[in-house]
Amino acid sequence: MDIRDQHPDLAAWNALIERSLADPDSEPIENLGPDADEAVYDAVFVGGGAGGRFGAAYLRAMGGRPLILDAWPFLGGSCPHQACVPHHLFSEAAAELDRMRWFSDELWFPKFDPSRASIKEIVDLFLAGRGSAHAFMNWQTKEQLDVEYVLNARATVVDRTTVRAAGHTFRTRNLVLGIGARPVTPDVPGIGRHGVYDFVTLVEELDFEPTRCVVVGGSKVAMEYGSFFHATGCDTTIVSRSEVMRSSSLEHVDDDLRRYVVDGMRTRGMELLEGADLVAIEGTGDGPVTGVTVRLASGEQRTIAADMVFLGLGERPDTAALQETLGIEVGPTGRVRTNLRMQTGVPGVYAIGDLIGGPMEMWKARKSGVTAARNIMGEDLEFDYSRYPDFLHTTYEVSWVGLTEAEARAACDEVIIIQMPPYVEGLDTEHLPLPCAEGTMLYAFRRPELSGFQKLVVDGTTRKVLGAHHCGYGAKDAFQYLDHLIHRPEGLTIDELGWMNELFLNPEHFVQLSRLRAGKGRLTHL
Ligand SMILES: Cc1cc2nc3c(=O)[nH]c(=O)nc-3n(C[C@H](O)[C@H](O)[C@H](O)COP(=O)(O)OP(=O)(O)OC[C@H]3O[C@@H](n4cnc5c(N)ncnc54)[C@H](O)[C@@H]3O)c2cc1C
Ligand SMILES: NC(=O)c1ccc[n+]([C@@H]2O[C@H](COP(=O)([O-])OP(=O)(O)OC[C@H]3O[C@@H](n4cnc5c(N)ncnc54)[C@H](OP(=O)(O)O)[C@@H]3O)[C@@H](O)[C@H]2O)c1
Repeated sequence: MDIRDQHPDLAAWNALIERSLADPDSEPIENLGPDADEAVYDAVFVGGGAGGRFGAAYLRAMGGRPLILDAWPFLGGSCPHQACVPHHLFSEAAAELDRMRWFSDELWFPKFDPSRASIKEIVDLFLAGRGSAHAFMNWQTKEQLDVEYVLNARATVVDRTTVRAAGHTFRTRNLVLGIGARPVTPDVPGIGRHGVYDFVTLVEELDFEPTRCVVVGGSKVAMEYGSFFHATGCDTTIVSRSEVMRSSSLEHVDDDLRRYVVDGMRTRGMELLEGADLVAIEGTGDGPVTGVTVRLASGEQRTIAADMVFLGLGERPDTAALQETLGIEVGPTGRVRTNLRMQTGVPGVYAIGDLIGGPMEMWKARKSGVTAARNIMGEDLEFDYSRYPDFLHTTYEVSWVGLTEAEARAACDEVIIIQMPPYVEGLDTEHLPLPCAEGTMLYAFRRPELSGFQKLVVDGTTRKVLGAHHCGYGAKDAFQYLDHLIHRPEGLTIDELGWMNELFLNPEHFVQLSRLRAGKGRLTHL
């Protein structure tokens, strides 16, 4: 379908995307210049997810000519379709449900009715609405960003200057590979049973209301989806071979922050089995899941009754075809090796996003796409993604940046901690309604122990902020800016932080707490 001279509105885009998704034989959607078959593009982006779309838009903004090719009938990739967006919907539902449970039949809250909380209903809510983000990105990329694309068409890379898709053969000076990654599935008995899901199949295939779930994994997906399932009333056990939140993919998680988060999950009735391995998924004959057998840290085996198994075991890219055609190099976990300009070892071939090493996060996907674009357009730009802010959800928003207290103690002579509840051994903080802020005010006054945790780690000698750690609501945005400030060459001192203008009652109390200490020549804990 040639869409170049049509200008569908959002509803028309939405309908076209839904029709295309529903019909495996639907035709490609082409937004191409009239000379596309003869042109030599500055860059063809294979994959129009977060990395490809942002990279192509930036390259176009700089005056270049990009082309995006994507197998799905929409731009934006996995984030709005199966990953971040459903995760945030589920996590918001989890926080709401948690609050409804704690305040059941108190104040103006009704008695909590667990029969009204449904995983399936929220998945269906997501499916009914996800097309609008897709529609917007197709519209924006065409009408506002002026980027050519072919959608609903799998691309085949022929060589480093030639790509085929939708019956066209496109020529390009540079190739930018941004094909993302897919969830890992372990090879254990019973893995094919009905009732086993990952983050993709949960939204695409869930067809019943689970009542008892075993989540496998101990990182973001396991913590987030496990917390959501449990909050709906689906009893959940997390089975993790490492300690949860201590996965190799999660860096700089402070011990006290982790303790607050993990204790909170247990208080809410979740079972967390750490150091435990998945052995088999049980059922009768070819029937659905009835349980999960795990090997506990003690070596003993245990079978846990369950009607759903959810896998949060990370993602791997599928690079076999690209390795064969282009000879690009991949690392031990299958991710394409690049330098900090996003160049692979093959001249003119770049790789971006989840396909390459480093954290699988939106900022990295988008900025790696932009880095490839800027280098293609003649800049000499390196993107170092080794230091960054991070977050995950439970029924809370948990955010962190910089060093943990333990890391700081290993690196500095003197470390000062500014923390809420305060850093005083033995003080009876159990009923202290602090920290309190928007999002935790009701907890602060009714269930003080649920009102969150926050910690600032400061170098006592240089007075520079080394790290910040937060569990609560609403503080995540501040971590974007704290990341920038503390990682600038000059850093951020407690004096500068204490002189900022807080929007009281701010979700993190770092500004005002720093101000209470900044007058001291020799800093002490607070
Ligand atoms: C459950 C979950 C929740 C997440 N939540 C967050 C979050 O809250 N915040 C955050 O920052 N990150 C989050 N992430 C990570 C984030 O989703 C990814 O880092 C990001 O989407 C990666 O973008 P990408 O462009 O590399 O890949 P993708 O967005 O996956 O895009 C790859 C694209 O390539 C296309 N493609 C593949 N092969 C071909 C081919 N041969 N021809 C044409 N097209 C092809 C695909 O159709 C797809 O559109 C989450 C991840 C998961 C799994
Ligand atoms: N920003 C966000 O909020 C957000 C949300 C969700 C996902 N994401 C991103 O999406 C990606 C996927 O998330 P994820 O949590 O699934 O992956 P992940 O962070 O890579 O963690 C994978 C988990 O699975 C475990 N694991 C891996 N292989 C295993 C095996 N064979 N047997 C048993 N356990 C195994 C790991 O244990 P070990 O630690 O022992 O290796 C780890 O606990 C991540 O890169 C993540 O950053 C981001």
